[in-house]
Amino acid sequence: MTDSNAPRTAAVIGGGTMGAGIAHVLLAAGARVTVAEVSADAAAKARDAVANSLAKAADRGKLAATPNDLLAALSVVDTLADLPPGAELVVEAVPEDAALKRRVLAAAAGACPDAVLASNTSSLSVGALAEGLPGERVLGMHFFNPVPVQPLVEVVRHGGVADDLVARAAGWAEALGKTVIVVRDSPGFATSRLGVAVGLEAIRMVQEGVASAEDIDTGMRLGYGWPMGPLRLTDLVGLDVRLAIAEHLERELGPRFAPPQLLRDKVGRDELGRKTGRGFFDWS
Ligand code: CAA
Repeated sequence: MTDSNAPRTAAVIGGGTMGAGIAHVLLAAGARVTVAEVSADAAAKARDAVANSLAKAADRGKLAATPNDLLAALSVVDTLADLPPGAELVVEAVPEDAALKRRVLAAAAGACPDAVLASNTSSLSVGALAEGLPGERVLGMHFFNPVPVQPLVEVVRHGGVADDLVARAAGWAEALGKTVIVVRDSPGFATSRLGVAVGLEAIRMVQEGVASAEDIDTGMRLGYGWPMGPLRLTDLVGLDVRLAIAEHLERELGPRFAPPQLLRDKVGRDELGRKTGRGFFDWS
């Protein structure tokens, strides 16, 4: 549904699972959206991912407009030089690599001089990402996978950000149909810190033979009302993503976030979860 409080023009850097989902919800709220990728091929794949996601939502009766009407407001580009100069909001959703995120945010700061620059990082310090940038324009807008379905955005504020920017970002997220929590810039924020803690403990329990992955997940689904168990969720998010976050949290918060050996072994064998066909479960 078009929401007049949504940004009119927005850009998303990175058209993977998260970027495509963020583009989906921006389009559905009536924004014109540009998704930037690194090559023509990746840009075409990003367009397909957004189209598939919109089609799924339409099949479930969740879209007020047709996917084709919404796709008419989508552009994909293969260079950050082609970001729309008039964008009000740029969300970066590139891999969880601080140097890469800093690089794309710096390019966006130059290409979109008036835009709020939001990082979708799930654990990195937003203040550190903002260093060397106009930091008063940078904050975290952390979306959840699958973005069209999960109703939360965690807005992350670092020291250099004024209340009105936080309120503006929160208003946009609400216009996308999301509920907002505002979290201080601290490692793993509120959600990743707790979600990863449970996920790592579940992996340690498999490693120690406490129960099977299936039974641990069933325990949390039926005993605690989780929509899916922590191990299937790890498969959905990606074991490599979870490992990178755990390593970062171990550095920042100490050994309680040390990644279990089983997680390292599986990543070493390319058992990354749903995207490679195997993780704690078989997805082939
Ligand atoms: N628009 C687009 N796609 C939609 C949709 C919509 N409105 N509604 C559903 N879908 C998709 C689902 O994502 C799912 O996709 P796949 O086919 O690719 O699996 C599919 O349609 C089936 O949806 P269902 O609603 O039928 O499936 P379900 O009832 O099993 O629910 C689920 C699936 C929503 C993923 C649910 O199991 C769930 O909420 N799981 C927990 C997810 C979670 O915890 N996410 C947070 C992860 S952590 C994170 O994201 C943060 C980070 O930084 C890493």
